[in-house]
Amino acid sequence: MNELQKRISQIGVVPVIKLNNPQRDAKPLADALCAGGVPVAEVTFRAAGAAEAIRIMTESHPEMMVGAGTVLTTQQVDETIAAGGKFVVTPGLDIEIVQYCQQKGITVFPGCTTPTDYHAAFKLGLEVLKFFPAEQSGGLAKIKAMAAPFPMFQVMPTGGVGLKNLGEYAACPVICACGGSYMVTADLIDNGKWDEITDLCKKSVEIVKEARK
Ligand code: 3PG
Repeated sequence: MNELQKRISQIGVVPVIKLNNPQRDAKPLADALCAGGVPVAEVTFRAAGAAEAIRIMTESHPEMMVGAGTVLTTQQVDETIAAGGKFVVTPGLDIEIVQYCQQKGITVFPGCTTPTDYHAAFKLGLEVLKFFPAEQSGGLAKIKAMAAPFPMFQVMPTGGVGLKNLGEYAACPVICACGGSYMVTADLIDNGKWDEITDLCKKSVEIVKEARK
């Protein structure tokens, strides 16, 4: 793992964020995440303005690791880098995007859930993969089964992860960190419930710590 991946692994959770109003929400959201001990965010390109959100969060919190999610094109990789983003997450394994990120020197976490995906990721020299959509693809049982032929990977499960199952995932030694939107839902963001977000972050970090003991 590189330094960024190690730092993400130490935190253990990655909030997956969709921001419709970055001008209003990006800064207070970054404040709330950092106050909760989670200075990391995957800002998805599912909302226009993702690059702007990455820029605002990175400028207001230079210590934060802000990356882009749902990256589907190399142009979005360029936008991420220009905005100061530190990593790229893709829903599937797109060889062109992975190689483009490698060329540009930005960490990439492609979504992988099958032996074919893992095999391709191995050839590409990757070490940490997003496992997406985690619960719907077989969850922890599948992650463990995949680790038998592919013990070289750490994974970031995302999709269906929440406070109820975070501990189970985090206890598994091949899990780098768990991603999820549960701590940054549309309701929490749209209604400015920043303290609740901070609390959810704190709870999540605590659960990960307990699980790894
Ligand atoms: C993602 O893009 O990683 C997922 O949609 C997040 O999944 P969740 O909303 O179930 O946490």
